[in-house]
Amino acid sequence: MQKKDLLYEGKAKKVYQTEDPQVYIVSYKDDATAFNGLKKGTIVGKGVVNNQMSNFMFRLLEKKGIPTHYVEELNDRETAVKRVDIVPLEVIVRNKAAGSLSKRLGLAEGTPMGETVLEFSYKNDDLGDPMVNDYHILAMGLATREEIDRIAQMSLQINQLMLDFFKSVNVDLIDFKLEFGKTQDGQIILADEISPDTCRFWDADTGEKLDKDRFRRDMGGVEEAYAEMMKRLGL
Ligand code: TMP
Ligand code: ASP
Repeated sequence: MQKKDLLYEGKAKKVYQTEDPQVYIVSYKDDATAFNGLKKGTIVGKGVVNNQMSNFMFRLLEKKGIPTHYVEELNDRETAVKRVDIVPLEVIVRNKAAGSLSKRLGLAEGTPMGETVLEFSYKNDDLGDPMVNDYHILAMGLATREEIDRIAQMSLQINQLMLDFFKSVNVDLIDFKLEFGKTQDGQIILADEISPDTCRFWDADTGEKLDKDRFRRDMGGVEEAYAEMMKRLGL
């Protein structure tokens, strides 16, 4: 599989066309941003971690019946994925309060949510990915009722599978972000990545942060945290 034209360059990944119109290649960068690109930096080796961890999670989820865009890991940083049209929504799943939810609702970080919380944001950098509800999504034509329901159902199922898995490696899954894509035939599948950039991982015993919050909050030990997560996954 060969990279052809660069289709898109985002903050953390590049996407290339290949000779197969139904397959793209994703290339993960070490660039790190936070707060909609306001904070910029590098996390050495992050591209490798996020590539390998995402692929590990996609393979695990596929085995449990969740359709994903994963096709084949090509090398440390690059993966072949199915071509999809990305649904322009970020789906946030929260098991415990943290980050923007803690700020918005005045809840101490780590407060358990009595019920899993799902949030949607409209993927639009110029607007800073504003939070939207079902009404906004339908009114703006970002997804259909059926697609919203399917995305919500898959997200909750993925959460259960991820909670179980991370518990088995002594990690408390606080929250995470998912993105979905639509295949040519209209099927909704899981896309984007699952990594310490897009999840909050706390050590289950000590509460130590093992994710991008160390970068966002200038806590230090960023590379070490990403490496520790790789170790927990046996990668
Ligand atoms: P938040 O607390 O900032 O809303 O983040 C919730 C979760 O979503 C957290 O695990 C980090 C992840 N996330 C992303 O992956 N990309 C983003 O752009 C944002 C804002 C959050
Ligand atoms: N990477 C995102 C950005 O720069 C946000 C984040 O992960 O905090 O907007």
